[in-house]
Amino acid sequence: MIDSTTIRQVQDAADILDVIGEHVALKRAGKNFLGLCPFHEEKTPSFSVSPSKSIFKCFGCGAGGSIFQFIMRKDRVSFPEAVESLAQRLGIPIARSQPSPTAQRKVDLASVNSWAAGVFRSNLQDQVLGRSAREYLATRGLSPQIQEQFKLGLALPGWDGLIQTAASTSRSAQSLAAAGLVTARESGQGWYDRFRNRLIFPIVDASQRVIAFAGRSLELADEKSGAKYLNSPETPLFSKSSCLYGLDQARDSIVRKNQAVVVEGYTDCLMAHQHGLTNVVATMGTALTDLQAGLLRRFCERVVVVFDSDQAGLQAADRAIDVFLGQRIQLSVAAVPQGKDPCDYIISHGIDAFGQIVDHAVDALEYKWQLARRAQQDSDSPAGQHRAIEQFLASLARSAHFGSSDPIWRGLLLNHIAKLLSMSPVQVLAVVNQLKSRTARRVQPADPSGPVSTASAQTPLSAMDKALRQVLEVLLNKPSYIEKVAGVIAPEDFSQADLQTVAEAVFKWAGDTDQPQLSDLLAGQSSLDQADLITSLAEQGSRKGNFQPNLSGAMDYICSYRQRRNSLDAAESIRRADSDLSDEQVNELLQQVQSQLKTQNRRNPGIRV
Ligand code: CTP
Ligand code: MN
Repeated sequence: MIDSTTIRQVQDAADILDVIGEHVALKRAGKNFLGLCPFHEEKTPSFSVSPSKSIFKCFGCGAGGSIFQFIMRKDRVSFPEAVESLAQRLGIPIARSQPSPTAQRKVDLASVNSWAAGVFRSNLQDQVLGRSAREYLATRGLSPQIQEQFKLGLALPGWDGLIQTAASTSRSAQSLAAAGLVTARESGQGWYDRFRNRLIFPIVDASQRVIAFAGRSLELADEKSGAKYLNSPETPLFSKSSCLYGLDQARDSIVRKNQAVVVEGYTDCLMAHQHGLTNVVATMGTALTDLQAGLLRRFCERVVVVFDSDQAGLQAADRAIDVFLGQRIQLSVAAVPQGKDPCDYIISHGIDAFGQIVDHAVDALEYKWQLARRAQQDSDSPAGQHRAIEQFLASLARSAHFGSSDPIWRGLLLNHIAKLLSMSPVQVLAVVNQLKSRTARRVQPADPSGPVSTASAQTPLSAMDKALRQVLEVLLNKPSYIEKVAGVIAPEDFSQADLQTVAEAVFKWAGDTDQPQLSDLLAGQSSLDQADLITSLAEQGSRKGNFQPNLSGAMDYICSYRQRRNSLDAAESIRRADSDLSDEQVNELLQQVQSQLKTQNRRNPGIRV
């Protein structure tokens, strides 16, 4: 953990114009500086740097943040790496704070795993003990070089090989158990090894830590019973759904090619690397998750997912759409023919043939559209076409990401979808929203107009969401208003996950810091998406100005919305409690409830600004 005072010191010492100016030709424009955005292709400058606020913001692609996020994006490094590289340039020594207990646990786990990887590796290299496993690897066509590069190892057949070695080097059984390498015997007496008679594939993350192991059975019987692979259990260091096998080896190549190829299996990944296709990583048998896609987006813009067969592709297409919408990556999919996996295919057809499959991958949205059409027998008739379009757009409407993804990205996708369907983007959006509201169960406020800005007509935000958003816009410019907001609104009120996370950070920043600076808030952001969102909210707020009236307008709206919702809820519960009540009686009760709520609101001093 880098100490927060050091982060601040580095930030204060760095000149944002100098650092960004090395990569972008900047021209003064009023208080700010303008240039061509280094993060997307453009001909007219929309990339702006504000030296007074120490932030940058691109109005074309939405990227924004402090000097640290600029370096993270430019050099594709993590937040601590960005701080370190800047500190080094400025000659500021890095002070590290005591790692938190969770951080310390991760350090301990990584250290045990790294030791165990060494033990497994030397088992495999042992003249006698490792011979048959090495022979097996040879029959699979995996070269000694690739085995070395990916640190492949061997767990011996006995029950206590690892635990014995640990004892002889005075490592505690508990530390091995924490990493899932050994398990306590049921008798309570002693421990036994998790991995026995298995080939070991260490799983290494992008910062070169051994976070887990996969063990492939060397017994045929296991392969039939489905226990072909055994993984480490989930630990604070390892979660199967958020890491990618081979990322440590593939990282540089992914950055260079601006593309990652995702396969399903360990051996697929190894075989591709052995044949010189090095931007390949594996999901370990599951469909690509949001977290994995988000991880890849740190390194590239294009991802090709290669499925073992068309069948798997069909099932994964919906997931792919979701990831596409949510993660702002260009996602394409391809399947290996004849039910082969990439490993077998590379062996039998060569790496160039596999490269062809990757090059001919179909854009995920188009793939899904083809599937929807194929599902309709009479897909050329107007009725069949109608059903296909509805089925396709329904999958978009179902995607949790559709409403919350970045508006520019959503706009680009809408155009793309519109072209596929030969419709206009406006029509597409209308249909999707219609399909969405058919399934939405949320109670909408009776009057969605109100004092809230309706600036972005494309965003299907509810008026309540807009009001909450406006509160954040103001707070980012006037953090001292937190006092007026804190008693009334909590981060949990934000229904969208991304805004909720940002709200948590903003509330904490505004409440806990004296004289909060926007760049301080940004300095703590290791997520680039979050930094983008914060910068754009701050910018929108500052453009709108009128902080006080905008805040009180939004707060009034929020309070009256709640009041309406409460009375709706009350009406509902009154009706449920006594269905014999006449409509007039219900109305009377309702009026009582409403006047009570009004008095409550008046008593609440936080609301008026
Ligand atoms: N997998 C798993 N557990 C299993 C089977 C598969 O975790 N019981 C995961 C592994 O990550 C595996 C991937 O799914 O690499 C693909 O499975 P499969 O194609 O069956 O394995 P391969 O990697 O092709 O292994 P091999 O070639 O040795 O059969
Ligand atoms: Mn396979």
